[in-house]
Amino acid sequence: MQDLFSIEGKKAVVTGGTRGIGYMIAEGLLKAGAEVFISSRKADSCEQAARELGRFGLVHAFARDLSQESECRLLMEDIAEHTDTIDILVNNAGATWGAPLEEYPESGWDRVMDLNVKGVFNMTRFLRPMLDRAAAPGDPSRVINISSIDATMVPLFPAFAYSASKAAVNHLTVHLAAELAPTILVNAIAPGPFHTKMMDAILTEHGEEIRAMTRVGRTGEPDDIAGAVIFLASRAATYVTGAVLPVDGGLSTTGPAH
Ligand SMILES: NC(=O)c1ccc[n+]([C@@H]2O[C@H](COP(=O)([O-])OP(=O)(O)OC[C@H]3O[C@@H](n4cnc5c(N)ncnc54)[C@H](OP(=O)(O)O)[C@@H]3O)[C@@H](O)[C@H]2O)c1
Repeated sequence: MQDLFSIEGKKAVVTGGTRGIGYMIAEGLLKAGAEVFISSRKADSCEQAARELGRFGLVHAFARDLSQESECRLLMEDIAEHTDTIDILVNNAGATWGAPLEEYPESGWDRVMDLNVKGVFNMTRFLRPMLDRAAAPGDPSRVINISSIDATMVPLFPAFAYSASKAAVNHLTVHLAAELAPTILVNAIAPGPFHTKMMDAILTEHGEEIRAMTRVGRTGEPDDIAGAVIFLASRAATYVTGAVLPVDGGLSTTGPAH
């Protein structure tokens, strides 16, 4: 059974792996024996995260802005200097923007859609040749998109572009799953609330209310997200593609607890 869930020796890319959910995923993959390539926009964040994560295994980090197609291509080239094959791509880097309806800026839409939707598409197509090469009979390569429960629920806050972008990620997941099967399996994870920089202000102010909305009465922990990614990346999930897995303490599936 351990072999069924093993990702030992696999090569994984985690975009936005320098903090938050991406860091949690990178740490989990490293502890499970994978070699990990992380990225974010800031070179100093990349260096620091690579240093810290280096305690758990082999890490490479590259500073690229994945909201631009040209930088997605450059990240692929950075990775290609180290390897010909990638087994697991975790499209995690994401951004949000909140503003009242009347004031919602076009720049907010561009920032969110360029990274959350186009970035996922571009990274997947640019890494496709490496993912194809890593695929083995009975063990296809994997793309795991980090969506959000906000794709299917109305968010508590006016993040109009964000919720729309994550609904787009869910459908892009299905479309890519159809396109890339059987060599590459494509699934998404829809996290509920995790305490990261993106959620810091909201959870600091409304933490109690938000925790009470989940059926398990808490926010997500690193093992919650790492465990879901490791399952989807392992041989145990070779019959799963085009799925969106909520990792949210039941928030989106059972409705708010009362
Ligand atoms: N936290 C939650 O409760 C929650 C819930 C549902 C879904 N999610 C999703 O989970 C993912 C991670 O969120 P998080 O909460 O961990 O957010 P976070 O703490 O803000 O981390 C975002 C990561 O993405 C990187 N990033 C941001 N803009 C980028 C760009 N243009 N190009 C490349 N990298 C970029 C950031 O580094 P730099 O700033 O250095 O670029 C950072 O490493 C996102 O897709 C988010 O939508 C989060």
